[in-house]
Amino acid sequence: MGARVSRGGNSGRVAVLTHRGASASGIMFAGGAMLAGCAMLVGCSPGAAPLPLAPVQRGEQIYAGNCVPCHQPDGHGIAHVYPALAGSVLVNGEVAPLARWVLKGERSAAIPEGRYTTRMPQYGWLNDADAAALLTHLRSHFGNTAGAVQAADIARAMSR
Ligand code: HEC
Repeated sequence: MGARVSRGGNSGRVAVLTHRGASASGIMFAGGAMLAGCAMLVGCSPGAAPLPLAPVQRGEQIYAGNCVPCHQPDGHGIAHVYPALAGSVLVNGEVAPLARWVLKGERSAAIPEGRYTTRMPQYGWLNDADAAALLTHLRSHFGNTAGAVQAADIARAMSR
């Protein structure tokens, strides 16, 4: 009898914990940066759907999730294996050739064939806003100081 009461109490508690666990992991999925951003936003309560990341955080998140294994957190790549994005002529030059390389694998004169035997995946699945956030991140980190990229720049680059 005593045991049954105690089991009932436990399962009730487990259900609450599971519920909390699920909502916490939903927030964590959006990344640690989301939590920081969330705390600053009015009306962002734990029960609310996660708000979209600001472009600055989104660019950082996409870089961290897709590019870091090869180009490294500091953007310096790995000598003779993966090129540096720090100081790269392609990264800091015009937006269109940069976008066409990252999204379509279309090579520009700035990165001649044969420098690397390794290959880079293409990221054409990124939408224009996310691609713009990513390229802005590349151009404003690792010591790079080139201008920000807008979604419309990506659309224009990919339309020809
Ligand atoms: C699997 C490893 C790998 C991943 C992941 C990767 N790259 Fe690359 N990246 C390469 C290689 C290899 C090259 C050189 C390709 C060549 O010139 O043939 C390259 C070249 C580049 C260049 C040209 C740099 C220069 O000036 O030489 C840019 C810009 C770039 N990558 C951006 C990105 C971005 C942004 C991501 C993530 C969305 C990414 N890469 C993910 C391997 C990778």
